[in-house]
Amino acid sequence: MIRYNSKEDETFSLNHPELTSYLYFPLANENGVMSSVTPNLSGDSKISQNAFLMPPVSSENLHNDKSSRNFWVRINGSSFWSATGKSSKAQSELFTDEKEATALEAGFMYHKLTRVSKLGLTSEIMSFVPSSGEMVEITGITLKNTTEKPMTIELVSAIPVFGRSADNIRDHRHVTSLLNRIETTEYGVTVKPTMSFDERGHHQNTQVYGVFGGREDEKPRGFIPTVEEFIGEGGSLENPGILGDQSMTLLGAGETAEGYEALGGIVFNVRILKPGESIFYTFILGYGENKEDLEKTAVRFMNRKMFDQSLEETRNCWREKVNITYATGDDVFNHWMKWVSFQPFLRRIYGCSFLPHHDYGKGGRGWRDLWQDCLALLIMDPKDVRKMLLDNYGGVRIDGTNATIIGFSPGEFIADRNNITRVWMDHGMWPFLTTSLYIQQTGDLDILTEETTYFHDMQISRGEEKDLRWNPINRNRLMDQTGQPYRGSVLEHILIEHLTAFYDVGEHGHMRLRGADWNDALDMARENGESVAFTSMYAYNMEEIAELLKALKSKGTDEVLLHKGLLLLLKDGERNPSFKKKLLKDYCMAEFTGEKISFDIEEIINSLESKAAELKENIRKNEWIECESGLSWYNGYYDNSGNKVEGDFLSGKRMMLTSQVFTVMSHTADGEELTKIIKAADELLYDASIGGYKLNTNFNEVKMDLGRMFGFAYGHKENGAVFSHMAVMYGYALYKRGKSEEAFKVISSLYSHCSDFEKSRIYPGIPEYIDAKGRGLYHYLTGSASWMLLTVITQMFGVSGKMGDLSFRPQLLREQFGRDHKIHLDFPFYDRKLKLTYVNESMLEAGSYKITKISIDDEPYINGTSVDLIRKEDILRLDPDKEHHIVVELS
Ligand code: G1P
Repeated sequence: MIRYNSKEDETFSLNHPELTSYLYFPLANENGVMSSVTPNLSGDSKISQNAFLMPPVSSENLHNDKSSRNFWVRINGSSFWSATGKSSKAQSELFTDEKEATALEAGFMYHKLTRVSKLGLTSEIMSFVPSSGEMVEITGITLKNTTEKPMTIELVSAIPVFGRSADNIRDHRHVTSLLNRIETTEYGVTVKPTMSFDERGHHQNTQVYGVFGGREDEKPRGFIPTVEEFIGEGGSLENPGILGDQSMTLLGAGETAEGYEALGGIVFNVRILKPGESIFYTFILGYGENKEDLEKTAVRFMNRKMFDQSLEETRNCWREKVNITYATGDDVFNHWMKWVSFQPFLRRIYGCSFLPHHDYGKGGRGWRDLWQDCLALLIMDPKDVRKMLLDNYGGVRIDGTNATIIGFSPGEFIADRNNITRVWMDHGMWPFLTTSLYIQQTGDLDILTEETTYFHDMQISRGEEKDLRWNPINRNRLMDQTGQPYRGSVLEHILIEHLTAFYDVGEHGHMRLRGADWNDALDMARENGESVAFTSMYAYNMEEIAELLKALKSKGTDEVLLHKGLLLLLKDGERNPSFKKKLLKDYCMAEFTGEKISFDIEEIINSLESKAAELKENIRKNEWIECESGLSWYNGYYDNSGNKVEGDFLSGKRMMLTSQVFTVMSHTADGEELTKIIKAADELLYDASIGGYKLNTNFNEVKMDLGRMFGFAYGHKENGAVFSHMAVMYGYALYKRGKSEEAFKVISSLYSHCSDFEKSRIYPGIPEYIDAKGRGLYHYLTGSASWMLLTVITQMFGVSGKMGDLSFRPQLLREQFGRDHKIHLDFPFYDRKLKLTYVNESMLEAGSYKITKISIDDEPYINGTSVDLIRKEDILRLDPDKEHHIVVELS
């Protein structure tokens, strides 16, 4: 069972973590070191797809692979014991030997493993990656004699150094080992391959990798720098030959070995530990430009004071970054939410690629990830968000589609990681969701008129044509007629994303599914598929854009300068799908000049509203399904054969959660329909034993005319798992519609399952999905974390910006309040540290209380107009260096 160590912080403990499979924990920093560690220090470490220090692992390698960080100790001159539990002997004894107790303690970016050997030696292995940014992973090992007699120990590390691209794990693994140039230094083993292997053109390699070990006053005795020497003939990394040899042959410093798989095999002198005495060693895995500087950095951490200081700094740094504290009546929820709030930071560092389940992609982030991460940032660290939004809009093409992969520097975009021409039809609607939240949180309407560039590559006309005149020299920017990068306002980018989508419809008048929508696995209905689900969200966005334009107009802006091509897109009255397609083609294929003209805001508002109404009307009229059993809900898709996807079928009822989430969130479903949707979802999709609402019912068909998801086994990933992101968005949509109790059911089923280690088998946090047996998979790197944060704070706690003011609309249930009838939330707003307390003295249920009084720092707060918000200017008046208590009374 996971135990939280205190009410105040996020750290937790777990006994015998090694008895659970597929567990891994992230250790990283913002300069790009990305490690993963398992309960016996398997996992890997890398700084990019092309620079893996340890051999890359997928989830299946976690138990099958023999390469891990291993630390062997010869106790009293007898056989060697693995301090990480990674020895063939230890494995076989694990289940029978009570004394081999293993315990884990972990907090943000640190992982501490304690093991007790039968012979009375205790090892405590602390691993972390320093937040100060050095390109290293640090391990501190404390060995303690817990017997009453003196004990001799001899420590040997065995850490395989892969030192190359993940691609070479299968492709030319042996050949690339021939490139290795291995050297021993005073403290360790360095590897600098001569080349970075790529048959399209090999490059000279500049990356140096190293493993170093030492103590403040002790250097290693010698080295075994290759795997081959270490394992010996017939041995393995779990039963290494060399350790059976009393007189190990070691290399000294300054030796070289070429063309072998490298190993951080570092051997220390035999020491005598008195009873109760302990000894501390440090090991560093590092990346550098040259071995000298790398070793210097490593040696700095061998100083005990420096080690402790860096660990402390790292822990504090991440605690400060995760600057939201939840204090409801449920301590486990409060702790769990801390870990969820930490996850968006992990996704920004790892992208979607570099933890064991995430064995795809090559780094970088996807379009959706980018905008989702901004949601969390807006709440936890909003200072750079404005710039980030502007940079991100630079990824939009003039045809309303966008680059799909985002590189490492701001504004760096790549068309597709596999160079496949693909259009995800939902992409155009996420930027506005985030921008609209940004505007509400900050009141910064001006961002709409701020200008930024457009992305341009060979792909044009929404992926249907190639621009043969495209010139890579322009660094993927769209140029105007004068040869300058064309800049258009954020509003223009948003309008283009929505209006092009409006015309990109299939034969039923809903937007075409194209490459897929949010559900990446609906990828086989390119020609005739339609996504009703996302059409409803585009329509909703159009209404919301119109609302923002009204606000802009009320501030005195009557006209805006926009790309002339919008004249065509803003036209009204074109309802016929084939005419719509033709109009879109005309827009996309028109010669781009960069000419802008003035548009009347009123006319844009009218056009958006009538287009949104048209889309919603079509859905309401044609997509509501009524089954014979009396259940009803919205159909959200058309397949490539042009048929409705959901409803009553011979093989059973077909229902998809996504279709309901977006028709609810977009207010396409009216109140009565909402009640019916909830009923149908409860009957067809809800399974309390695996965390709540599944993504779909079992279609019992491999639908080749819709997507790969139907090839997946049912109950897994996009085919019917409890897919956290969609489940959370369902909760969000229900809160939005004021269904507090039903929304809480969604969130709490998911949370209760994930936080129950015996069921979910994951460390605290939200995984991408929960499989048919209840295990959480693809832990940590999931957009659902940002959405959970957003849902809990802005909907459940109801704390959000309203055109820059701080508004309170709590939907907290009575059962969520503590025994003192209070709930607290610490969060930042305009850089002020706010400590909010909701007081529900009479313990009323959500929906039956309202805000009666607000006080700030014990002074009653009155703003003259609304009782449920604090004006921006009043927040800005608060001292940024102090904490401020806001008490909101509910009665
Ligand atoms: C993942 C992808 C996301 C996609 C989703 C459904 O979700 O990252 O882009 O929309 O699968 O296919 P996540 O891991 O963010 O929960």
